[in-house]
Amino acid sequence: IERIAVITSGGDAPGMNAALRAVVLAAEHDGIDVVGFRHGYEGLLNNDYMKLGRDEVEHILQYSGTIIKSARSERFKTDEGGIEAAHNLDAQNVDAFIVIGGDGSFRGANHLAKFWQGPIIGIPGTIDNDLFGTDNTIGYDTAVETAMDALDKIRDTAEAMDRVFIVEVMGRNAGYIAISSAMASGAERMILPELQKDKPLTIDALVKHVEGVNRVRGDSSYVMVLCENQWPGGAVRLAEQLEDRLNFPCRPCLLGHVQRGGRPTAMDRILATRLGVYAVQLVQEGITGVMAGIEKNELVTTPLEDTWVKRKVLSQELIDIQTKCFNPIKKDRHKA
Ligand code: F6P
Repeated sequence: IERIAVITSGGDAPGMNAALRAVVLAAEHDGIDVVGFRHGYEGLLNNDYMKLGRDEVEHILQYSGTIIKSARSERFKTDEGGIEAAHNLDAQNVDAFIVIGGDGSFRGANHLAKFWQGPIIGIPGTIDNDLFGTDNTIGYDTAVETAMDALDKIRDTAEAMDRVFIVEVMGRNAGYIAISSAMASGAERMILPELQKDKPLTIDALVKHVEGVNRVRGDSSYVMVLCENQWPGGAVRLAEQLEDRLNFPCRPCLLGHVQRGGRPTAMDRILATRLGVYAVQLVQEGITGVMAGIEKNELVTTPLEDTWVKRKVLSQELIDIQTKCFNPIKKDRHKA
């Protein structure tokens, strides 16, 4: 292997820069050149690349975003797109390809493999933590810290005014950010896809819960963490519905893209560094079509397709623990 191409693709995640840095430094250590294509697969199609060496990646690991930019590309998904991308990799004498991103980016990697023969490795970079084959994805820990910090702040004002807050967090269709930030901030309730899959929550159940908590605790704040895409109309609509029913102020708060920024936590920087170095090792071993991940603190590989076909299951133990912490029903019975 003499030259590796790397892209960051899909929704950016804190720690992508740290992963890039690790790829470049490990490659340089082994005498391998690295080129970064800008804006994900779009850059592959536009032949928009930059040489990445020690100088380019110095002191970037503490910043979120990605110095080679990211994007989602529709054009690349076609056969013509795949052929064009393969052609551009060959034109730059690239022998191996590393993609840092989430499931959409890994689907893209599999698409590329139909038209290009070199080793292809995925590095999991997404705040959603929804990829099978790694305990954590790069960016997830930072997103949880950010959400927890915001929830603590919301608690201050909620507590001062005895209000109900519905705080909507990201996660796409996975409840990882929601459950972790809810647990870390002591939220009274959370709404997750994993809790709704058999029995969708109703407004009646939520009203009963808010009333139950207030009955047990007297004047008090109530913070509900809502995973995005889990309530029609999101936090804004849910707050309106609750306010109508409860007759006291309920406020929505959408954390949105702040969850993708900020200084990556030490955990994300370390994860990104381990996976970046491991990916370079894997391409040198001629391994292809896998994601580099970490399970139980060990480096592991998982076929790219498994990362999205097999569903990563949110631990029932975590759900049970958090449910015990917010459920007032037992306390109620105890009182009676
Ligand atoms: O996959 C990362 C993520 O931030 C999701 O949590 C969210 O649903 C989505 O990307 C938002 O995408 P966009 O930045 O394109 O609005």
